[in-house]
Amino acid sequence: MLMTANRRFAFSASRRLARPDWDSLRNEEVYGAGGEREWGSGENYAAHLVLAGEPDPTTGMLVNLTAVKAAFQPVVDSEYDHKFLNLDTPPFDRLPPTPELVARELLARGQAACAGMGVQVVACHLQESELTAASAYADGRIERDWWLELSAARVTRSPFLTDAENEALFGRAASPLGHGHGYRLRVTLAAPLDRETGLVSPHELVAGLLGELHAALDHRNLNLEVPALARQPITTECLARFVYVYLWPHLPVTRVRLYEMPHFFAEYDGERGYLGLERTFSAAHCLRVASLSDTENRRVFGKCSNPNGHGHRYTVQATVAAPIDARTGTVFALDRFSAGLEQVLSELDHRHLDHEVEAFRDRPSTGENIALVLWPRLAAVLDERLVRLRIFETGNNRFTLRAEE
Ligand code: NI
Repeated sequence: MLMTANRRFAFSASRRLARPDWDSLRNEEVYGAGGEREWGSGENYAAHLVLAGEPDPTTGMLVNLTAVKAAFQPVVDSEYDHKFLNLDTPPFDRLPPTPELVARELLARGQAACAGMGVQVVACHLQESELTAASAYADGRIERDWWLELSAARVTRSPFLTDAENEALFGRAASPLGHGHGYRLRVTLAAPLDRETGLVSPHELVAGLLGELHAALDHRNLNLEVPALARQPITTECLARFVYVYLWPHLPVTRVRLYEMPHFFAEYDGERGYLGLERTFSAAHCLRVASLSDTENRRVFGKCSNPNGHGHRYTVQATVAAPIDARTGTVFALDRFSAGLEQVLSELDHRHLDHEVEAFRDRPSTGENIALVLWPRLAAVLDERLVRLRIFETGNNRFTLRAEE
């Protein structure tokens, strides 16, 4: 399994997406910067540094995220936060501050800041706004995310199942009277960066296709009003696949994620379907290693070593993967997924992890160790289909375990 730890850095900045040597028409085609004036516009950004390595067997930490913060926050504060990127932040005096290029630059700066910590900074995810994001990876790959919001009605059902089978599998979602969701759709594009534009794909092409897609799905009855979905199961998995198939002839789409609710999504990557589900648990804990002195514990764990403890409401996101079943249109039965996740988390909920949960008697209850403890238990109740497990300890820190491909 691969483990990563993720630290979030927020900053607010203005930026102007336009090349001074191009006229406004060309800039608008490429950057969609209609109305972008001399002093640009602003965003509240969140940059996530992703660090990979092996957790230390004694401390249970892959890396001390407090040290990562101490190393990288000065870069964010002095060069990115409350700046005009085009004038204040090299290399964006020469290159357009596209999300792709800002993510790539922050990755390089993060790698330099964290050198010598014994971990690899393997990625930087940059959320530019609710609707745009980009990721840069240590192996040189760049991805761009586009988000879309839409509302639609549907009956969750497969034409290949009987009414009784549909009802048994989908419950109330199979009611012939229908139901609705406000969906959030994330389309991830991956391609070598265009040197001239600093983008994966030009704005006009992407916005045009996503606009067509939005018009086809938004405020529609998906069973009755979308001809391309006829004779297919109407499930969240199949809707994600539909979007992927719709876009891939025209865009370098690498995966599509469709959130049906903030805590539930389906994803499709051209081969497999994925379902992700989040649940929370609330627990107290205290990070201390018995073999270390009080001073050592304080040095390693900081305020997390408070002897009387502290606590978190942890969010756990589990993702399962499988080929989408042709008959049912599903990856995994949602009711079993939800029940399995809740059953496993109930063992930690409203406990002091270190005093009351056997698994943490001999190892500190770090986010890394919580992920390692939960993985085999979740994998067992999820038919060994678990491929990714995320533990969000706070809004700033999260830990991820992935099955190796
Ligand atoms: Ni804590």
